[in-house]
Amino acid sequence: MDRVLVTGGAGFIGSHLVDQLLLLGHGVDVVDDLSTGRLSNLAQARSGGHGQFSFHQMDVRSPALAELAKRRRPSVIFHLAARSDVARSMEDPFEDLTINLGGTLRVLEAALNGGGAKIVFAASAAIYGDAAIDLPIQETSALVPSSPYGVSKKAAIDYLDVYRRSRDLEYTALVFANVYGPRQRGAAESGVISIFTERCLTGRPSTIYGDGKQTRDFVYVADVVDALVRAMDNGGGLVINVGTGRETSVVNLYELIARTAGSTLRPRLASARPGDILRSCLDASRAATQLGWRSFTDLDTGVGSLVDWYRANPEEYFLRRSARQSDGAKEE
Ligand SMILES: NC(=O)c1ccc[n+]([C@@H]2O[C@H](COP(=O)([O-])OP(=O)(O)OC[C@H]3O[C@@H](n4cnc5c(N)ncnc54)[C@H](O)[C@@H]3O)[C@@H](O)[C@H]2O)c1
Repeated sequence: MDRVLVTGGAGFIGSHLVDQLLLLGHGVDVVDDLSTGRLSNLAQARSGGHGQFSFHQMDVRSPALAELAKRRRPSVIFHLAARSDVARSMEDPFEDLTINLGGTLRVLEAALNGGGAKIVFAASAAIYGDAAIDLPIQETSALVPSSPYGVSKKAAIDYLDVYRRSRDLEYTALVFANVYGPRQRGAAESGVISIFTERCLTGRPSTIYGDGKQTRDFVYVADVVDALVRAMDNGGGLVINVGTGRETSVVNLYELIARTAGSTLRPRLASARPGDILRSCLDASRAATQLGWRSFTDLDTGVGSLVDWYRANPEEYFLRRSARQSDGAKEE
């Protein structure tokens, strides 16, 4: 079994990854500054029962990360810590730059210091921007990000590639489509599903930005975790899409969630937000070839699980809403 380090492990995707790694018997160190993550996401991990687990409240940009890696000598570093809010990146691109790129450079330094860990990086479909005419988007498509967030993810991959060639550090960059599932906070990328679900269940109207015809590729968090785990030993030096290959418009998504949650509320329409891309959908053929991965949760099933989870954890509505407000995120 491996010792691994997960940056951003108290966040939405990171905490599900940590649970799975512990279940598989790996020793896990989590580094997170709890800026958007929460310790309660790690309740299962902290309650023990499986592999070894340690939590380190630390900024990923801290030089202490390299010290930690030197002590723990992880074989893999999953690098998920990031600002992942497109709208916020348009307002404050400097914050994106320092956290997303500064953090990636610290992770590279830590991998070197800890004896050469492989880095599995969480990239985003935002790297492609709106340039791809042919959908689903393949990894060979032009990278023309529409937001500073997309630029930061694209440049991080460039850094990983430079270090692979110059310092012999292995990496795999997984390009996530829009991930959804339990523990997601509304303000983060693709939080639209958790926002609509929370609003439909609490009887508050949702807002659709633009005409609602914009499409996204929604992939369930358990499927994404499966891809991350597979990338521990596969896909070296590659950028690999992790999506379903299916487009869903925001209007159709709203209707599905409202139906599943039993809501008859109609959404409000507002003007489109800068930086948002129009259509997105990822071709995951490379993930099938290189990782033996494909998504296995369809949208109806995933939304059904999410609605059930919210109903079983009603305190989540209020936690999520107050977290978004303290983030300074716009109320929907
Ligand atoms: N959710 C999606 O749909 C999606 C899609 C594409 C890519 N991604 C990427 O996946 C990763 C995880 O996203 P998520 O949705 O779980 O978001 P999240 O906000 O829930 O998780 C990010 C975690 O990183 C931590 N973090 C942020 N800045 C930090 C810093 N300076 N130092 C230490 N920790 C810090 C946060 O506290 C949080 O726990 C991110 O890199 C994101 O860009 C997410």
